[in-house]
Amino acid sequence: MLSIKDLHLNFGTLEVLKGIDLNIEKGKVIVVIGPSGSGKTTLLRCLNVLETPSKGILEINNQKMNFSEKVQRKDISAIRRQTGMVFQTYNLFPHLTALDNVMEGPVTVQKRKKSEVQPQAVELLTKVGLGDKVDYYPYQLSGGQQQRVGIARALAMNPEVMLFDEPTSSLDPELVGEVLQVMKQLAKEGMTMVIVTHEMNFAKEVADEVLFMDGGHILERGHPEKVFSHPKNERARQFLNLLNE
Ligand SMILES: Nc1ncnc2c1ncn2[C@@H]1O[C@H](COP(=O)(O)OP(=O)(O)OP(=O)(O)O)[C@@H](O)[C@H]1O
Ligand SMILES: [Mg+2]
Repeated sequence: MLSIKDLHLNFGTLEVLKGIDLNIEKGKVIVVIGPSGSGKTTLLRCLNVLETPSKGILEINNQKMNFSEKVQRKDISAIRRQTGMVFQTYNLFPHLTALDNVMEGPVTVQKRKKSEVQPQAVELLTKVGLGDKVDYYPYQLSGGQQQRVGIARALAMNPEVMLFDEPTSSLDPELVGEVLQVMKQLAKEGMTMVIVTHEMNFAKEVADEVLFMDGGHILERGHPEKVFSHPKNERARQFLNLLNE
């Protein structure tokens, strides 16, 4: 359902992704770990074509892009429609209520009727546990609640794959659980997800596979128990030792 072949990305002279190959089957949950600067965010941004790789092939749900050829705008939009992204900071519109934040994409991007979108948006907010907060503005919501609105907002576009970039890392510890809970529920419902996170217990419980990235390469991948307990790669071993300290 999602495949990447030999993906390269440069920022100027700095090569940040150095040939990434990855296949993800429908319904699988992939957790990406790795040191700061290893290219995790950049990889997610490539999946959403927020960055344009210099080379490589990306295919999501039969929409294919070859970055060695000239990139067509219509292909970018077609790929983007397949993915929903949740960022580290919530990026909600401060002047819109939770409900309007969730409705924004479907109404302005997908040009759908407000009357049709509204009940779905209420349903999504209810699903993330915010059915009683639909009329609240972001400043009236806690960080965990704002992040759950962010998840509902991404889901409103009906993506095939959800991409999460350290969705809990800017939250107070007591708010982390409620966001992970929503993500666990999505996993259970069969959503395909790629998640950058260092929440090891979550990864052990939910991930089908863990990828360890360093220096723009995927150096190790496998079942979470295996990667966490017996990493084969020396860099992965060092990194996991640091995380466990
Ligand atoms: N827009 C940009 N312009 C230039 N360099 C960038 C840009 N975005 C990222 N980089 C560089 O690319 C490399 C990978 O960055 P990236 O954000 O993907 O790392 P990361 O693994 O997500 O790190 P972290 O764990 O700190 O979030 C870093 O060296 C970073 O400085
Ligand atoms: Mg990052």
